[in-house]
Amino acid sequence: MSRWDLIYDGYEPAAERQREALCTLGNGYFATRGAAPESSADEAHYPGTYVSGCYDRLSAQVGGQDADNADLVNVPNWLPLTFRADGGEWFDLDRACAEGRLLSYGQELNLRRGVLTRLLRCRDAAGRTFRLAQRRIVSMDEPHLAAMQTTIVPEDWTGVLEVRSALDGRVANTGVARYRDLPAEHLVREDPADPGDPEAQLLTTITATSRIGIAVAARTRSSEPAERSRRTEPGWTAQDLRIEVREGAEVTIEKVAAVYTSRDRAVEEHGRAALAAVRRAEGFDGLLERHALAWAHLWRRAQLRLDHADVQRVLNLHIFHVLQTVSPHCAELDVGVPARGLHGEAYRGHVFWDELFILPFLTMRFPEIAKALLMYRWRRLPAARRAAAAVGRRGAMYPWQSAADGREETQRVHLNPRSGRWLRDHSHLQRHVGLTIAHNVWRFYEATGDTEFLAEYGTEIILEIARYFADLAAYDRSIDRYRIRGVMGPDEYHDAYPDRDEPGLDDNAYTNVLTAWLLHRALDALALLPEDRRTELRERLALTREEITRFEDVRRRLYVPFHDGVISQFEGYGDLEELDWPGYRGRYGDIRRLDRILEAEGDSTNRYKASKQADVLMLFYVLTPQELDDILRRLGYEHGPDLIARTTAYYLPRTSHGSTLSSLVHAWILASTDGDRAWRVFREALSGDLEDVQHGTTAEGVHLGAMAGTVDLVQRCYAGMNTQGGTLHLNPRLPAAIGELRLGLRYRGHWGIDLVCHQDRLKVTLRPGAALPIRIAPGDQDVLIQPGDSWETPLRNGRTPADGE
Ligand code: BGC
Repeated sequence: MSRWDLIYDGYEPAAERQREALCTLGNGYFATRGAAPESSADEAHYPGTYVSGCYDRLSAQVGGQDADNADLVNVPNWLPLTFRADGGEWFDLDRACAEGRLLSYGQELNLRRGVLTRLLRCRDAAGRTFRLAQRRIVSMDEPHLAAMQTTIVPEDWTGVLEVRSALDGRVANTGVARYRDLPAEHLVREDPADPGDPEAQLLTTITATSRIGIAVAARTRSSEPAERSRRTEPGWTAQDLRIEVREGAEVTIEKVAAVYTSRDRAVEEHGRAALAAVRRAEGFDGLLERHALAWAHLWRRAQLRLDHADVQRVLNLHIFHVLQTVSPHCAELDVGVPARGLHGEAYRGHVFWDELFILPFLTMRFPEIAKALLMYRWRRLPAARRAAAAVGRRGAMYPWQSAADGREETQRVHLNPRSGRWLRDHSHLQRHVGLTIAHNVWRFYEATGDTEFLAEYGTEIILEIARYFADLAAYDRSIDRYRIRGVMGPDEYHDAYPDRDEPGLDDNAYTNVLTAWLLHRALDALALLPEDRRTELRERLALTREEITRFEDVRRRLYVPFHDGVISQFEGYGDLEELDWPGYRGRYGDIRRLDRILEAEGDSTNRYKASKQADVLMLFYVLTPQELDDILRRLGYEHGPDLIARTTAYYLPRTSHGSTLSSLVHAWILASTDGDRAWRVFREALSGDLEDVQHGTTAEGVHLGAMAGTVDLVQRCYAGMNTQGGTLHLNPRLPAAIGELRLGLRYRGHWGIDLVCHQDRLKVTLRPGAALPIRIAPGDQDVLIQPGDSWETPLRNGRTPADGE
């Protein structure tokens, strides 16, 4: 199978929604699921289109609680296009399939050019045979445009072909069955105006409470003369084309669509802008050419090549979906990165800590996108400050789930589909999201050397988050240490102690250790500022000498719990019961959602040493062994040399991988200790969406963190790359299954650094034209490479000779 194609043979209604998510086309401004244009939302189909950052809030009561929900809005559908012969029935994919009249069906997504193709043959109820070929793009060149070209051949009849091309605003956010009790009607239906152009259609609408104006326009052309008529209903407009066709002679219909909103810049009025855009647009072939060129440019910057065709294809798919969600078109938008892409409605399009897994890949390839995502956070600092102040804290408390204005969007109740019960949801207690944001800012600075960003925005984010955590940490005289109580770590199976009424846990090790790390970085960031900027910032933030002293104190005396020689996930974790893993596996098979299973049995994961995902082990993912060691030592914790191996061995069998992020993190950590197992876990992480390992969740949107994270794993973990201390450290360790890995990177303003890693050697080339030489430290060698130069070193057993000697 090609490295660039996702190919489906046949039509499978039960798998169609997953296919739609995986065949989504987008450009960072908007995306449309790969749905069949003949179908509207029903059990098999869910044609959603989402505009980045376009949210709307509706209120309701569910499970006896107020449920205020901000959704990434499903905007009017531009796809609808169907056909029939001589007044027969409109083509219906499912009916044709059920009645044995779908003669062949295939679908192909080309990742290199971003083109979705469908090929089908069908017969209508009167026995007339049609052949159809359809290509679709969402333009990466012109972010407001999409286009679809449909070629129909009447194989064995002559007569009138009718084509209906519509825009459908009668859509709602109904893509996720679990949310069915929540209100979903975000669009106000308007009567479509006559655009005064026979080829054009325009549908405008406005979101119910955020009052964002949305306009979708289309232009439909036929290769043969067509008689046209127009039909409208509130929220819907269609054009019917009647075309005389001859047996065996093809007819091509081109539909070009434009999407604009009232929030777009450099636009006077979004409706007129959409109409003008479709009127002036080129034909499909011209649009395709420019679109494919834009993708070629992206692929050049995203390149990552390895000699393993299967893995390469999945990595290409992952890169493709990351860049369709956040592209260079986002650099000027005020948007975050939704955990499930612009590919579906799970998690309502909210932004979580998943940036942690997405930013590193972008930072080394598309720093402007990474910066835009950090700016989304910076603009929401005031909201985070208000949230901290509202609970009596200093600094900035970022929300676990974020959408338009940065308020906390986490639901307060959620449905367990297994028990049918609505349950209190405490996941907003995952305060560690703030640590992620600060961490991302610092890592961005390390990799880009962007001191201007750090001085203007980054330090402020870091300081305000550090301030919040330093304030949250409370001094406990009995142990002479600081403790952080009442929070949740990344593992969502533990939100409370089994014997306590109030939610939250004490001293989540991940939170405490990263807080110590952050307080160090906050002081480093301040020290890096030019003196006048430092004074300015301290004055503006009213950051006192006493607070700085507290940073210094807390970072040295935070409490980290241990039990059985390993870091405890939180204080008291060691006292929890062991779960009967074989018993549950035997009874249920798939126990990824152990929380739902236990709750339905009247039990709770809170009672057991059982995690949904990596929690303590996240420390080994975000910090280098050296960083972790430094922090623990400065905190006064002595530990044996094999703490990482011990702790990994302890938590791995106690994790159910209920999050797709989990196997990714485990694959990363295992890479340095158990290559074979790491490779198997990595392959599992790769199959997350492609094989829908969570049984049905991919249909509701892809898992962007795991997608970007697997690519980043190849880039940073296999190439052994880190960017600390102004040096590009390289220490490749290729899995046995990979013979060669090629990467092209950007680092600290250098456009082109090419790495070629083999099992036994590493070659680094600095492309000509880079402004400065760079310093590389593979193992403990220091090398200065001049622009245009290459440098090669042998590796022993996949490590540089210096390593381990
Ligand atoms: C995971 C979180 C993640 C969220 C969004 C949850 O299932 O537990 O860590 O942020 O999904 O991807």
